Amino acid sequence: MKDNNSTQKAEITIDTISGAAIYSKSLLRIYDFFVLGLSNTFFWKCPTKLILHFYNQHVSEKHLDIGVGSGYFLDNCKFPNANPHIVLVDLNSNSLEYTAQRIGRYKPTTLLANVFQPLPIESTFDSIGINYLLHCLPGNNILSKGIVFKNLKALLNDGGIIFGTTILGKGISHNIFAQQLMRIYNAKGIFGNTNDTREDLEAILKKCFRTYDIHIVGSVAFFAAWK
Ligand SMILES: C[S@@+](CC[C@H](N)C(=O)[O-])C[C@H]1O[C@@H](n2cnc3c(N)ncnc32)[C@H](O)[C@@H]1O
Repeated sequence: MKDNNSTQKAEITIDTISGAAIYSKSLLRIYDFFVLGLSNTFFWKCPTKLILHFYNQHVSEKHLDIGVGSGYFLDNCKFPNANPHIVLVDLNSNSLEYTAQRIGRYKPTTLLANVFQPLPIESTFDSIGINYLLHCLPGNNILSKGIVFKNLKALLNDGGIIFGTTILGKGISHNIFAQQLMRIYNAKGIFGNTNDTREDLEAILKKCFRTYDIHIVGSVAFFAAWK
């Protein structure tokens, strides 16, 4: 890694910042309860234990995690060995510090950076996690976020996997409460997923990767793609 904990010079738009700025230290303290507990159960209809299971299936001992939030999955998932090599990337220093401290037992490396830009990381990984990141990114639809996969593919070893989940905006049925929350979050720029569909996600994965898998639970798409 060239420059640990430095802000990238490349352009970061206001829209991009909105999806990251909300993660204050106080919000991160209630994130697990509010987002992973209440929202996943009652709004998105996707139990957090399924996402944790997905992490357990795909995480490797050489893992890059992007958009780390509170670090719940990294803290609770089972790595294949006791001393995994972990790099954390986020656009928000609160998320990075909170997660780095939470999983301090693994001695992770941190990088403050924007996933829309090529990341200045010199090592490559067997797994990359981008959980609940895509729906926070601005864009007219999920196709406009395709550059993220292109950038990250360069950091994957051959046979390596990129995986995660994302809340879709279209083509799935949101209950009335989820519709309201989606509307508010998209208006504030916290989410940018109004037009995100499974079909477009599939089109990106098909274009960039050797093989891929997608399945839907409630409003959430689970995806995994192999280089
Ligand atoms: C919803 S949280 C996801 C947390 C965690 N991965 C999980 O599944 O619980 C989204 C995280 O992505 C980060 N983020 C948002 N936009 C980003 C960007 N353009 N580049 C890097 N990180 C970003 C936010 O700061 C936040 O920490």
